Amino acid sequence: MKIILLGPPGAGKGTQAKTLSGKLNLKHISTGDILRAAIKNNTPLGIEAKRFVESGGLVPDALVTKMVAERISQSDVEDGFILDGFPRNIQQAQSLDSFLKIQADLTVIYLDSSENILIQRLSGRRICQKCQAVFHTQNMPPKKEGTCDSCGGALVQRPDDREETIKNRLLVYREQTSPLIEYYTARKKLIRVDSDKEPEIVISEILKILKKYSATQK
Ligand code: AP5
Repeated sequence: MKIILLGPPGAGKGTQAKTLSGKLNLKHISTGDILRAAIKNNTPLGIEAKRFVESGGLVPDALVTKMVAERISQSDVEDGFILDGFPRNIQQAQSLDSFLKIQADLTVIYLDSSENILIQRLSGRRICQKCQAVFHTQNMPPKKEGTCDSCGGALVQRPDDREETIKNRLLVYREQTSPLIEYYTARKKLIRVDSDKEPEIVISEILKILKKYSATQK
């Protein structure tokens, strides 16, 4: 099974992908995580991507598409994967179509959220500097303020979670990514889930819909 998690910044793609990956035993491929790791390690990709990521713009298609094509050609994702953050525009979706040999097992889960909720989630998100675990100051607070529950690392705000950058990311989403809703609806691949709800409700909704959907595909 190949799953694309589509949705605006803060819809909960990373949060749901992590749980779904455990439940369905599928690898989670997050383009945002790969880019942030490249930036942290100062790799050539990271050096090129930094200004785009930190301003909330999209990293050029050529760079991201090559990165994803390489990742999904690896043997550990032969039987499926969860793509989080890709594709992000029509051009990337067409590239993905061209390098996926089989598309019958592709499902796009669209996490739909209202803008006031997205802003609340993004502005309160904190990530662990060491292990990248994700928390939220109110929605998913750590046991000890400012400290990661898993590894004890310091919790920090992502540079692109500052107010001005959040506005730009939402604009980029509306202009460049949201046309993918129509793109995948036309291909009968898209399933909408209300992601304003609690994470546990969202995941059970996704699992229920996936079960029904895969039964209809047989
Ligand atoms: P990326 O990391 O993909 O960022 P994003 O799409 O903006 O999504 P986020 O990670 O901000 O949000 P999310 O939906 O994963 O929410 P999360 O689960 O963390 O990309 C970053 C940048 O990289 C881009 O701006 C771009 O520059 C570049 N990039 C990446 N892919 C690219 C591509 N394909 N092409 C070009 N450039 C690319 O949740 C958010 C918060 O809310 C957390 O604190 C969480 O605890 C909380 N939360 C989650 N779910 C719930 C819930 N149901 N209820 C309450 N709180 C919740």
